[in-house]
Amino acid sequence: MTKIDTGIASIGLHLPPLAMPVEELASLRGVDPDKYRIGLGCSEISLCPPEFSIVDLASEAARRALSRWEGDLDDIGMIAVGTETAVDMSRPLSAFVADELGLAGSIRSYEVKHACYGGTLALRQACEWRMSGAARDKAALVVAADIALYEQGDPGEPTQGAGAVAFVVERPEIASVGVESHAWSQPAFDFYRPVGEAYPRVDGKLSLECYKKAAQECFSALTRGENPADVLEQFSAICFHVPFPKMVKKAFHLVGEVAGWTAERIEQIYNDKVEPAMRWNQLSGNSYTASLWIAVAHALQGLKAGEQVAAFSYGSGFGSEILSLIAGPRAKDAEWAQDIERDVSRRARVNASGYNLLRAAVRTAAA
Ligand code: COA
Repeated sequence: MTKIDTGIASIGLHLPPLAMPVEELASLRGVDPDKYRIGLGCSEISLCPPEFSIVDLASEAARRALSRWEGDLDDIGMIAVGTETAVDMSRPLSAFVADELGLAGSIRSYEVKHACYGGTLALRQACEWRMSGAARDKAALVVAADIALYEQGDPGEPTQGAGAVAFVVERPEIASVGVESHAWSQPAFDFYRPVGEAYPRVDGKLSLECYKKAAQECFSALTRGENPADVLEQFSAICFHVPFPKMVKKAFHLVGEVAGWTAERIEQIYNDKVEPAMRWNQLSGNSYTASLWIAVAHALQGLKAGEQVAAFSYGSGFGSEILSLIAGPRAKDAEWAQDIERDVSRRARVNASGYNLLRAAVRTAAA
């Protein structure tokens, strides 16, 4: 893989102030909690109180990334926000975040939409902007942020969540992003939210098939012409977009089967390189655009310079891409881990009745 002089200089993460264990939702829906815990691999659902918005979530992640970076606002030449929790059909979420940060001037500012793939596109565009020379040595601020809420009683409800990741894209102190990546897209209506509707329409079975197909195509492209095991062996971690952990497991099993591995080998690689990266995802629930990058942030913690991470991005509709990252000298410090530790230790726990009240309040606020 070509090493390039651009990538992630700083990371900031943010989870909202409330969380509910999936067992509480199971009691509310009259479902065996093991369906959510074991059948889907879910643990906790991050939730936002009515007064807490996507702007708050995205802006705080951005503030945290900026606070750990040596540059200042004058050094930023781009802000790109990937989200599917847009607050306006015209005004980009990046403008709301820039307002919060006091960011204005000679800056390209925009929102990127492609379901859960939007954050990855924003990150790649920022890297390509730097590599092209158009950045004239300015840095980019990239944010992936979402609040994932389903209709009450929807089968996707236990997979709900929220979270934000922000990156300063500049010198690759934490990780460089490989120039080569492999994309695969194929139009489908697996998960979509028509204009004016509050909740997504999801064909759960179709979305699983689309996700598996995307993973198979992206990993086949990554390993083409080489022994797949040798290629994947190079990575310290293999990160996936995480709608819920079981979906990742199913997709990785398909990748392994296509590569011709035994079930035992697939399970071993999954346990060593895939599953550990999802620990923070189990605390956040699905955070759409942020989901993959929360896994990558977890995987980068403590890596030695030169160690590699694979990142498979998927967005319904559907578009997907696999990227490679190489840890830089500051990955070992993992300063961003304190963001998750702090948010998780401070957040309030919601029980089943509190969840009902919260959903009623969110509905009233949206009306
Ligand atoms: N103990 C353990 N496991 C149990 C169980 C129990 N008591 N009851 C059910 N399960 C298992 C099922 O066997 C199944 O596992 P399997 O898929 O490995 O066979 C799993 O739990 C889910 O059960 P299922 O009946 O398929 O769930 P569902 O019809 O309620 O669907 C979702 C739930 C979440 C899978 C589905 O709605 C969905 O895919 N939603 C969202 C998808 C998404 O986020 N897509 C967009 C981005 S990619």
